[in-house]
Amino acid sequence: MNILQLPERKLRREKIVMVTCYDYTSARIMAQSDVDMLLVGDSAAMVMHGHESTLPISIEEMSWHVAAVKRGAPKKFIVGDLPFLSYRRSLSATVDAVAQLMKAGASAVKLEGINGSEETIRHLVHSGVPVMGHIGLTPQSVNTLGGFRVQGSKDEDRQRLKLEALACERAGCFALVLECLPETLAAEITAALAIPTIGIGAGAETDGQVLVMQDLLGLNLDFRPRFVRRYLDGNKLLLDAFNNFASDVRDGSFPASEERYAG
Ligand code: KIV
Repeated sequence: MNILQLPERKLRREKIVMVTCYDYTSARIMAQSDVDMLLVGDSAAMVMHGHESTLPISIEEMSWHVAAVKRGAPKKFIVGDLPFLSYRRSLSATVDAVAQLMKAGASAVKLEGINGSEETIRHLVHSGVPVMGHIGLTPQSVNTLGGFRVQGSKDEDRQRLKLEALACERAGCFALVLECLPETLAAEITAALAIPTIGIGAGAETDGQVLVMQDLLGLNLDFRPRFVRRYLDGNKLLLDAFNNFASDVRDGSFPASEERYAG
């Protein structure tokens, strides 16, 4: 997938598919798949490192994840998430953070929210860095939002989110993630923009969809919001495999004769 194809994909109503990815082995599998874009999301803080929010992950950790994904899927379009506050200190600190992700192999960066970031986005875009926006439930603002909850239910919030979406497009974002919004609002935003929207928990009317890999693979049984569809019973399959290994070791059936070196 090439960034120049995105507006055309929107016009032709060909859905854009993005999945999060954080490691080399999964990236190698996704490299063979029909998925358009891999998002090295800061959700890595939660699903890879076990934190309760996305806030603790650092730019160094994000760069390691981007580099691993790039080695596994060198030809895929890779979006690297800018971690909490890494794009809010100063323009120079932002450019350093972005440089780390791009040099690690990202094809683009993603940042959350728009208020106070318009100039940053313009500067990055003019410097040759494609920027994906992200509005609605922005997990880096979990403490301000009062938890992980659907956004845009009240009229004033709907209006504000529409204005934020337009501001992302004006600042130069090439695509926009809409997270946890009512379907009608996501549809209105999608219709108002020339750039594609990629939804997660934002209904069926967005130009594309993204899911977190662990949710899609059924690896995280504690997390079951209504927007997640599990394509694999991953937790059960992996647990069975570990238990079968343990049982084979204990009853002596592993290693079998063909799994040993003779001589
Ligand atoms: O970090 C992430 O995984 C994300 C997606 C939920 C869009 O930002």
